[in-house]
Amino acid sequence: MKTLRDRTAVLTGAASGIGRATALALAARGCHLALVDRDAAGLAQTASLLPAAGLRVSQHVLDVSDRAAMLALPATVKAAHGAVHLLINNAGVTTTHSFHEQSLEDFEWVLGVNLWGVVYGTKAFLPLLLAADEAHIVNISSIFGIVGIPSQTSYCASKFAVRGFSEALAEELAGTHVGLTVVHPGGIATNIAANARSADEAGKARMVRFFEKHALPPEAAAAQILRAIDRKQPRLLITREAVLGDLFKRLLPTWGNRRFVQTLVKVMRMGNTLQETQEAAIAAARAEQA
Ligand SMILES: NC(=O)c1ccc[n+]([C@@H]2O[C@H](COP(=O)([O-])OP(=O)(O)OC[C@H]3O[C@@H](n4cnc5c(N)ncnc54)[C@H](O)[C@@H]3O)[C@@H](O)[C@H]2O)c1
Repeated sequence: MKTLRDRTAVLTGAASGIGRATALALAARGCHLALVDRDAAGLAQTASLLPAAGLRVSQHVLDVSDRAAMLALPATVKAAHGAVHLLINNAGVTTTHSFHEQSLEDFEWVLGVNLWGVVYGTKAFLPLLLAADEAHIVNISSIFGIVGIPSQTSYCASKFAVRGFSEALAEELAGTHVGLTVVHPGGIATNIAANARSADEAGKARMVRFFEKHALPPEAAAAQILRAIDRKQPRLLITREAVLGDLFKRLLPTWGNRRFVQTLVKVMRMGNTLQETQEAAIAAARAEQA
């Protein structure tokens, strides 16, 4: 986009992590904000960190996987701000379960927030974006939207889908004034790992410690996202591991995926819960089916 000053952005998942850092970065560029999250206290905290003067900020406490609430949101945002130029579909959740262990309820929860949240957000706000003189959509996928990772079947399903949705929509919007960036971050130091639903608390604690020590600060991710918006960049990989994972995968789709996973599991000590409990899981399945 040519400018962010005096534009209005709708930003989901604004109560924490990448969302909060992006809100602060947008505010520093003079962009008005409609902040969305299901976490009212976190949202109020984000708003309290923003500069008091010269900015219009509204807070919207809702669940992005709630279709009716999302489709009703543009009217509220329009009443508060008049127009929308930027939509950032950022809210996201994960679980750390092998598919074998994961409940369908948890799978649906991840798809509901990560995929349907993005689809509802885009469906709801596209008319306002099309009506603007210049507009942009940012959809947050993940490097796990490019590489398939054990213990992340629902997350990968959602993030691969966000990638497909975004790439297809970008082609539909090509030549219009509405740009689109799909973002694939690697490890960013946020609350996502701590908030993951997990059957493996020890594995989850390892992952949280790894994120605290080694992941990129969300402020650095936010700065890259804003640069991508400035440049109308269709695709953004954040962190070295995301760039490497993408390269491995494109060069050698099967072998590259496996090598990336092996490295990641080793470096991050990520739970590959089915492999770790493989023998017990297979024995239990055979006993059940006998
Ligand atoms: N942190 C990483 O390493 C990483 C890597 C790749 C992609 N991502 C993606 O980045 C995005 C932001 O996540 P983050 O890392 O900042 O995590 P985070 O947990 O710090 O922030 C996620 C935010 O989304 C909100 N949220 C969750 N479910 C919601 C719902 N149903 N309705 C409304 N809000 C909801 C949470 O309350 C929270 O404020 C997510 O889409 C995530 O999948 C993160």
